Amino acid sequence: MPILFKIILLILLIVFLFGFFFTEKYLQIQYRFFSWHYKLSGIDAKFKTKSPTTVKITSLIGIIFVLLIYFSALEDIEKKKLNTSTAEGQKTEVTETINLEDPDMKTVYDFLKKCETYYLATVENDQPRVRPFGTIDLFEDKLYIQTGKVKNVSKQMAKNPKVEICAFDGSSWIRIEATVVNDDRIEAKQHMLDNYPSLRQMYKADDNNTQVLYLKDATATFYSFGKEPKVVKF
Ligand SMILES: Cc1cc2nc3c(=O)[nH]c(=O)nc-3n(C[C@H](O)[C@H](O)[C@H](O)COP(=O)(O)O)c2cc1C
Repeated sequence: MPILFKIILLILLIVFLFGFFFTEKYLQIQYRFFSWHYKLSGIDAKFKTKSPTTVKITSLIGIIFVLLIYFSALEDIEKKKLNTSTAEGQKTEVTETINLEDPDMKTVYDFLKKCETYYLATVENDQPRVRPFGTIDLFEDKLYIQTGKVKNVSKQMAKNPKVEICAFDGSSWIRIEATVVNDDRIEAKQHMLDNYPSLRQMYKADDNNTQVLYLKDATATFYSFGKEPKVVKF
């Protein structure tokens, strides 16, 4: 929520709370503030001044309104977070805090999900190649990634299946070195697509392009500043 918006809401809330709890004072200030203007316009200021009950009711409505605006704006932000889509339209979920002290494969999965985007490095001849990826799936106790066979990344992995993955969640980061294994089974692809429904716009389990690969001989290391790295092999 922009800070200016918050400040405006806070000022309005203070004014309404003041009007509600210190109605007499509020009326005095309002009278003093506007009396010069009423004088100029030839209006009787006393006539214009609202009754305390009107001020109390208006202030209460104001307080409710400000709070409603504030909470609906917060809710909108939460919804946006939950529906963050990657460039390929993959829906992601926000995961709660993950315990990195004693990690296992599920911790790696949760961490990559939480990061939403990770970076996948492959090798092309003697040249490293890296790009953003988002798909990660737990299927039959293995960690899967997804791509399209037409992509260079797929061709590179076919030639040299050694990959490295890196992701950062804002305080900790992970590095996974692994060998990828292509899994051409429809059920493995379908499981991935079921977990990323928006991928179904581009991919189908039997389209000869969709590819899922699982990580084998993986070593994942979790790092945080000032902490010993934690290693998990799977
Ligand atoms: C946030 C983000 C997530 C992505 N996730 C994937 C993914 O999971 N699988 C995929 O094949 N491409 C994904 N892409 C697109 C690839 O990064 C892109 O196609 C890249 O060019 C592939 O590498 P290549 O050019 O070496 O083949 C993603 C892109 C972004 C920006």
